[in-house]
Amino acid sequence: MSGAASRACPKDTLLTQFADLGLDKPILKTLAAQGYETPTPIQAQAIPYVLEGRDLLGIAQTGTGKTAAFALPIIQRLIHRKRPAPRRGARCLVLSPTRELASQIADSFRTYGQGLGLGVAVVFGGAKYGPQVRALAPGLDVLVATPGRLLDHLGEKTCFLGETEIFVLDEADQMLDLGFIVPIRKITQHLPKSRQNLFFSATMPGEIGKLAGELLKDPAKVSVAPQATTVERINQQVLFVEGARKRELLVELFANPELTRTIVFTRTKRGADKVAKHLEVAGVGAAAIHGDKSQGQRERALAAFRAGRVRVLVATDIAARGIDVDAVSHVVQFELPHVPESYVHRIGRTARAGADGSAIALVADDERPLLRDIQRVTRQTIPALDRRRDPALAVMAKANKALDQQDGGWEPQPETASAKPRPQARPQARPQGRAPGRPQGHGHGHGQAHGQHGPGQHPRGEGQANRQPRPEGQASRPQGRAPNRGGGGRRFAGG
Ligand SMILES: Nc1ncnc2c1ncn2[C@@H]1O[C@H](COP(=O)(O)OP(=O)(O)OP(=O)(O)O)[C@@H](O)[C@H]1O
Ligand SMILES: [Mg+2]
Repeated sequence: MSGAASRACPKDTLLTQFADLGLDKPILKTLAAQGYETPTPIQAQAIPYVLEGRDLLGIAQTGTGKTAAFALPIIQRLIHRKRPAPRRGARCLVLSPTRELASQIADSFRTYGQGLGLGVAVVFGGAKYGPQVRALAPGLDVLVATPGRLLDHLGEKTCFLGETEIFVLDEADQMLDLGFIVPIRKITQHLPKSRQNLFFSATMPGEIGKLAGELLKDPAKVSVAPQATTVERINQQVLFVEGARKRELLVELFANPELTRTIVFTRTKRGADKVAKHLEVAGVGAAAIHGDKSQGQRERALAAFRAGRVRVLVATDIAARGIDVDAVSHVVQFELPHVPESYVHRIGRTARAGADGSAIALVADDERPLLRDIQRVTRQTIPALDRRRDPALAVMAKANKALDQQDGGWEPQPETASAKPRPQARPQARPQGRAPGRPQGHGHGHGQAHGQHGPGQHPRGEGQANRQPRPEGQASRPQGRAPNRGGGGRRFAGG
């Protein structure tokens, strides 16, 4: 837990043990095996309410264990009131904004519920229907889904939610925001009126909080820290730089060996591809993940990053929420997001579960209003360094520009330019500058983009663009992760 969380938390919850929360022995045993020593504040405060059957709105910072805060008591309730799941139905439905997060949540349920005989499945777009239909057919204890594909199943009557007992919205503010609210409303029409509703997020802007209030019945409200509080242990920094020099600055950053496992966020899918390519050319192993990649490419990129086969994951906001990768050392924002809450989620991919981390935002002059919004929403001033008119970057930029003119590499070039012969391969020609990137293995996932959406089309981010209740071509299910893959005890700092 972070310092901010512990200050905001009632004193008695700091001393709480999992055994004090009313959880059964088999679950306690699993937690011990996972190395979870003490509950985090959101777990200590939310679990008793969920066990009572109360509706709940839970707000806590990124990486503080919200998944277990709902999954553990849900598992216990399902076990205590053991009954067969309805055919094609699910006793508990969890909705998530992205496929990768849905997979991860399903894996958490499987891990926390191991040995208890729970039926858990995940359905999302981009995957084949057949296996999903077969998984749904006998009925499930826990179904984790993205809204679009779930609506397809409801429409085809391959899924039935009329007897669902518990409904969870993870990343609730995003799920209730413009991009998702229509599918969510449609899905709730399939749910029984009498049910338990659990909404969780690290952010909850006021107007969306009101909407959440309309869907919750007499909810318990647990707010470990004010919404949109960033994790204290994240060392945040802004670098002011000319937009045209960002790529040089980015490569320079990777000369620092402390950037062991880094996520670079871009605003657009095309930008993600370009940044990944640029890093690769500079010798920094990178894979890109965004909504125009095939599901296979998305899975391979995330798997390569998780396994440490690439040093950098270049991502759109598709990876901003909920994704839990161990030991992410740095988050770099190549561009600031249009929605200030996204900043909180993006940087929250580091400094999870009590670890430390750093977040660096590259800010061009025209992004200053976005920075102001972020600082207002997060109630902080982020330390800034001015790298504009930096001579070292200017030298690198000049060399890059010459290369671009040769091969049309960075900025879109007229067709005639790209038709010019390429006298020299880029890696040799690129100057090392004052801070060359560390050579890395080759990344994955620079696949063809298809169906490109205009960058400004949905200012609230790409995760929401995945909302279409339409099949999307996909090969297989992503590899999720177990909640704890490390050995030994795990304790949040100060918790
Ligand atoms: N009590 C605990 N003790 C130790 N580690 C824990 C505990 N609870 C959760 N964790 C670990 O903390 C990490 C973050 O948990 P989780 O993904 O649930 O965070 P979150 O609050 O949902 O974050 P986000 O807002 O980014 O979705 C996971 O790796 C999880 O295994
Ligand atoms: Mg989460």
